[in-house]
Amino acid sequence: MERVVSGIRSTGNLHLGNYFGALKNFIKMQDENECFFFIADYHSLTTHPTPENLHGNVRQVLAEYLAAGIDPEKATIYVQSDVPEVAELYLLLNMNAYVGELERTTSFKDKVRKNPNNVNAGLLTYPVLMAADIIMHNATKVPVGKDQEQNLEMARKFARRFNNMYNVEYFNEPEPFNFGESLVKIPGLDGTGKMGKSEGNGIYLIDDPKVIKKKVMKAVTDSGPTVPNSPVTESVQNLFTIMEIVSTPDTLQYFKDKYASCEIRYGDLKKQLAEDIVKVTTPIREKILDLASNGEYLRKVVKLGEDKARESAAKTIKEVREIIGFKPF
Ligand code: TRP
Repeated sequence: MERVVSGIRSTGNLHLGNYFGALKNFIKMQDENECFFFIADYHSLTTHPTPENLHGNVRQVLAEYLAAGIDPEKATIYVQSDVPEVAELYLLLNMNAYVGELERTTSFKDKVRKNPNNVNAGLLTYPVLMAADIIMHNATKVPVGKDQEQNLEMARKFARRFNNMYNVEYFNEPEPFNFGESLVKIPGLDGTGKMGKSEGNGIYLIDDPKVIKKKVMKAVTDSGPTVPNSPVTESVQNLFTIMEIVSTPDTLQYFKDKYASCEIRYGDLKKQLAEDIVKVTTPIREKILDLASNGEYLRKVVKLGEDKARESAAKTIKEVREIIGFKPF
C-alpha cells in the first residue's frame, strides 16, 4: 500500500481528457492506497483570483471531482488552505531552497515569459509549497503528468536536503506514480494532439448535450478517403480515438469499415460520437449539478477531509519542529 498525495488545480472545469486520463486512475488508486487529494487553493493565489472567484472555483472543482468518483470515505479529500500546517512547512522548507535553483525551473521560466508583469515570490517558490504538500503526509508516490515531473524532482531534493541537514531519515523521497499503459490520452477536436484547457478544444463534463453536439459537429476532419483502405489522417484518427473510449466496439468498427470502403459520412460519425459522449457525461453532469447545490454535503466532506489531513499534518509539524530544534520553555 502506497501513500499517495496529489494536488488538484482549483481553476478550470474537468474535460474528457482529465476524466479519462488522470481521474480514472485516481479512482482506481483510492481503493488500494492511502490517498490524499487536495484542492490547491493556496497555489492558485499566484494568479490573484478575486475573493468571489476563489471560493466558487474551489467549490466547483470539489463538486466535479466527487461527481466523477473520488470517494471521501476512501480517500482524504481536502482544501489546501484548511490545513495551515502546510503554510508552516512551506516557510521552514523555504530556508533551504535556493533562489538560483528555483529561478532555473522550467515552469517558473515559462510563467515569467508569459506574465512578465506578475513575477511574484509565490511563483518562484511554487515548487517549495508543492514539496510541503507532498512530504507533509510522507507520500511514497505522487501521480504526476509530464509537466509536473520537475516539481516532483524538487520535492525529492528538498526532502533529501532536510534529512541531510539535520542528519535524520525523516522525510521519504516520493516517487512518481507510473500509470504505464493505462494512461489514456484524449486528443483534441481541432486536429491537434491533445485535449486541454489552454488549447481551448475541450469537451467539459459540465457541458450540456447541446454544447457537446455543437463542439463535436465542428470537429476538424478532412475531405474524405477516395481510395479504398487509405491511411487515416490525424484529425479523423482523433475522432476514432475518442470513439474507441466512449462508443461500443461495434459502432467503432462500423465507421472504420465505412472509412475503408470510402463510404464514410463524417456528419454521421460525428452525430454518433456526440451521442456516445453525452451518454458518458450526462450522469456525471447531473451529479455535479446536484452536488454543487448541496452545501450541507460539501461542508461535511470538506470537514471530514480537513480533520484527517490535519491529523497527519500536525504530527509532521510537531516532529519537524523538534528536529529543527524549536523547544518549549
Ligand atoms: N502543481 C500541480 C499542478 O499544477 C498541483 C499541485 C500542487 C500538486 N501541489 C501538488 C500536484 C502536490 C501533486 C502534488 O497540477
